Amino acid sequence: MPKRYTITAALPYANGPIHIGHLAGVYIPADTYARYLRLKNRDVAFICGSDEHGVAIDIKAKNEGKTPKQIIDYYDQIIRKSFDNFGISFDNYSRTSSKIHHETASEIFIELHEKKKFSIKETEQLFDPQVKSFLADRFVVGICPICKNDEAYGDQCESCGSSLNGTDLINPKSKLSGSQPKLRKTKHWFLPLDKYEGFIKDWILKGHKKDWRPNVYGQVKSWIDNGLQARAVTRDLDWGIPVPVDGGEEKVLYVWFDAPIGYISSTKEWAKKKNIDWKPYWQSHDTKLVHFIGKDNIVFHCIIFPIILKNLGSYVMPENVPANEFLNLEGNKISTSKNWAVWLHEYLEDFPGKQDVLRYVLTANAPETKDNDFTWKEFQTRNNSELVAIFGNFVNRVMVLTHKYYKGKVPISGKINQIDQEVLNSIKITTSELEKKIEQYQFRAYSQDLMNLARIGNKYLADQEPWKLVKQDPIRVKTIINTALQIAAALAVLSEPLLPFTSQKMKSMLNLNVGWDEVANFKNPLLLKGKLLKKPELLFTKIEDATVKIQLERLKNNII
Ligand code: MF3
Ligand code: ZN
Repeated sequence: MPKRYTITAALPYANGPIHIGHLAGVYIPADTYARYLRLKNRDVAFICGSDEHGVAIDIKAKNEGKTPKQIIDYYDQIIRKSFDNFGISFDNYSRTSSKIHHETASEIFIELHEKKKFSIKETEQLFDPQVKSFLADRFVVGICPICKNDEAYGDQCESCGSSLNGTDLINPKSKLSGSQPKLRKTKHWFLPLDKYEGFIKDWILKGHKKDWRPNVYGQVKSWIDNGLQARAVTRDLDWGIPVPVDGGEEKVLYVWFDAPIGYISSTKEWAKKKNIDWKPYWQSHDTKLVHFIGKDNIVFHCIIFPIILKNLGSYVMPENVPANEFLNLEGNKISTSKNWAVWLHEYLEDFPGKQDVLRYVLTANAPETKDNDFTWKEFQTRNNSELVAIFGNFVNRVMVLTHKYYKGKVPISGKINQIDQEVLNSIKITTSELEKKIEQYQFRAYSQDLMNLARIGNKYLADQEPWKLVKQDPIRVKTIINTALQIAAALAVLSEPLLPFTSQKMKSMLNLNVGWDEVANFKNPLLLKGKLLKKPELLFTKIEDATVKIQLERLKNNII
């Protein structure tokens, strides 16, 4: 068993707020995993921060007549607040504009430079003569040489997913002035990825064929099959971390060089606050490193960043990179620029207190193996017929009955029959299934197995009909309620990774103080007789058709 876990979630760009695609793709699965491990009393560092460099930030600033610093300060705040509101339980959330990050990234660059791990080459790059600036990455658009999409960027074609150089584009145009760029010579630092094909092949293609997701494995394989090429890790820009070696004047580190290092600097920042050593979290062989990302980040986390770490020596490789596919919205690709998105801060205004509903729906329908679609209709159905009708209904029923019959005191169980025993057995069986699913990053399956346990409880109460036996067999009624309460108590604990707010409410209502392992080893009752329960509170409420209609209209009205 690993001694500690370093769990990273992709650093979001601080050029816009967070939407449901981010949550579904990265932050909910990562948070579920981290919460689960903490419940298992493991040593966890759950790490994230804002990604504040790169052309995306610069473009946003230019469009809004602001400085990049104003943009990142503004969005960093909004993003932090959203994560906080949705219970994303980072141990540390940092920023790549922080001093500790600039220092860490610079030190790593210098170390690689001094160890001669880079090749330094003069190449011709696109230059905008009008604004007198090189056109890195997204500062240039043109036709994709591969799929002929005419809105391909200088770093990537979003239509076919190919990774590009600005000079690959057909008919390139400057995003800054619209003019046609010229070629101009400039010097850059390259990471010779081609030298490490053997390393990636052995480590991933041979070593992780079975345990990595097919989509992640497949992407890595296709990169290797197409042959890796040297990649520039510096840019001619003025926003970013200055290249810290001779000849690097007026150049900055490529954002994809510095951002993943942000995981390390954020870990350092955290360790410093806790007064512990950060190094074991990245360098100790009994550490399990897991990167949660979206599929557009696979090459950076499975090829480029690992090669950087390998060159530094002494770092561990990620044990898994459970990347998700994309979440669409009502049949179309989520788009920030078209405002086709459900923004978290807006969701919370419309559905205050319903964070767990979104967490549940996005997990039940997570894009784990293929792109998936979020629809407001499905949101409503999952809420009304699963969270309300099964989970919430069961918990509420057993709470209400306990108050009605026993003034809120847990009744002592009589002799249990085979049906009771089967229901109680399902606690242990379900817990072990949930553990397997979470440890294999199958969060959809976890959410469904959890719901099934509530279904078992719900069916048990409906079949046993204790309300019909009150006069005739009071001991049997006590046994049924006691049994149902054990299921409710198990649900309160087992739902914590996914539904932290609901779990908290349930634990408080049930006056419950047991940990995950007590549920996993279920022998004795989780709720002892005589324990006094608090007044029942509804966990979930119905979402009406009219509410769904409002959301659909808002989406359609706000599209740009
Ligand atoms: N900001 C990037 C994105 O949103 C993710 C950066 S992940 C990191 O796609 F590893 F670089 F930090
Ligand atoms: Zn293309």
